[in-house]
Amino acid sequence: MSKLWGGRFARETDVLVHEFNASLPFDRRLVAEDIRGSMAWARALVGTEVLTAAEAETIVAGLAQVQVEFENGTFVFDEGDEDIHTAVERRLTEMMGEVGGKLHTGRSRNDQVATDFRLWVMGAIDHLQDSLTDLQNALTESAAANLNLPMPGYTHLQHAQPVTWGHWILSHFWPLVRDRERLAQVRERTAVLPLGSGALAGTAYPVDREWLARELGFTAALSTNEVAVSQNSLDAVSDRDFAADFLYAAAMIGLHLSRLAEQLVLFSSAEFGFVRLDDGYSTGSSLMPQKKNPDTLELTRGKAGRLVGHLTGLLTTLKGLPSSYDKDLQEDKEPVFDAFDTLRLTLPIMAGLIRTLTLRPERMAAQLEPGLLATDLADYLVKRGVPFRQAHHLVGRVVQVAEQKGVNLTELAVAELQTVSGVFGEDVTAVFHIAASLSNRNVTGGTSVEALASQLAAARLAVAREP
Ligand code: ARG
Repeated sequence: MSKLWGGRFARETDVLVHEFNASLPFDRRLVAEDIRGSMAWARALVGTEVLTAAEAETIVAGLAQVQVEFENGTFVFDEGDEDIHTAVERRLTEMMGEVGGKLHTGRSRNDQVATDFRLWVMGAIDHLQDSLTDLQNALTESAAANLNLPMPGYTHLQHAQPVTWGHWILSHFWPLVRDRERLAQVRERTAVLPLGSGALAGTAYPVDREWLARELGFTAALSTNEVAVSQNSLDAVSDRDFAADFLYAAAMIGLHLSRLAEQLVLFSSAEFGFVRLDDGYSTGSSLMPQKKNPDTLELTRGKAGRLVGHLTGLLTTLKGLPSSYDKDLQEDKEPVFDAFDTLRLTLPIMAGLIRTLTLRPERMAAQLEPGLLATDLADYLVKRGVPFRQAHHLVGRVVQVAEQKGVNLTELAVAELQTVSGVFGEDVTAVFHIAASLSNRNVTGGTSVEALASQLAAARLAVAREP
């Protein structure tokens, strides 16, 4: 097996060590970025007089050919290829001869891999942003369709106060706004060019790093289109903050999807029955013919664990490393690739599941019991001058009276309410309506018709806005 670095070695690498050392099985995913980076590097070398313009263009054309071989599946790996960088360069040199061998001048795989990986993560973020936007649209569509449909709201998973379907489903929309902001921030921090850092000490050839940054799209702040170039070569070849940032953003997305999934598992159970999952998004049991299982949601919940694991795994890998490159850093790619693959599937599946969900308003209505209005009863007393603490206590007593009689709060006669407090009057029955409770909460973020309409409008605006 011939190695690109084989000059000083008298004996071949042990077979198992080769396998252990190689990253090709997973980093072949960086091929497009590797070729893009190399094309830019070849052109940057023209300014340093290492390559003539004609030589650089020959190399660029050769790299384009290598790209074609990858695209049509004719690229043949050599058993000595240890990673995608060596594979591409080896093939280029095979095709071009001596001029191909000039490409790696002034460059190291250390600044090369950092560049390729950053480019890949930037592309992955763009993809996830689109999927998140689509899921956000699915959520606002569902909210719009049943914005004011009343349902019980919960704290501690116990009946608390009335809310609406629109209100509830949008509670899972806003976390995704934060996820998109977070990803946009990660993208900015990722778009800083390490190329030109060499192995650790900077390249000895006077390449124009600003030109390289612009050429490769390392414009940290997309809005200002300002190029960003790493300022310390030792840091640049070992900085994997962007990968950890990406994994944190991915773990947060996973966590948000998991919470939505968990609540839908509950809501689709026989006991709640608020929603019915579409057949396309649920699965059956091999034994029990009647079963329709929310596997899709359970997997979504389960995969959050895997995403959190990737983050803790990478942080642990990074924590003891000195500055500059160490081979531990090769462990950065698999968790990032897997986090992306996980979300690439989970996000559109969740969007489809939401779009095909059937609501069961009658099951929600059946749970809208008067106990949900106890706070409104206390508010009634407050409006008549009773301090809230006392009102809370008095309504607690009303609840007790109702429980002793075995009736609902709303079934007590006004005279019975008056045994607890003389402040209760005939008009108290106006409180006993779910709609009244909803419309009383007429603040931004509340449940009134107007508040929900403006929340939905704000949500639509947030989707349309670039994070
Ligand atoms: N495959 C390596 C990685 O992913 C490329 C960098 C190798 N650098 C080195 N000094 N051996 O990290």
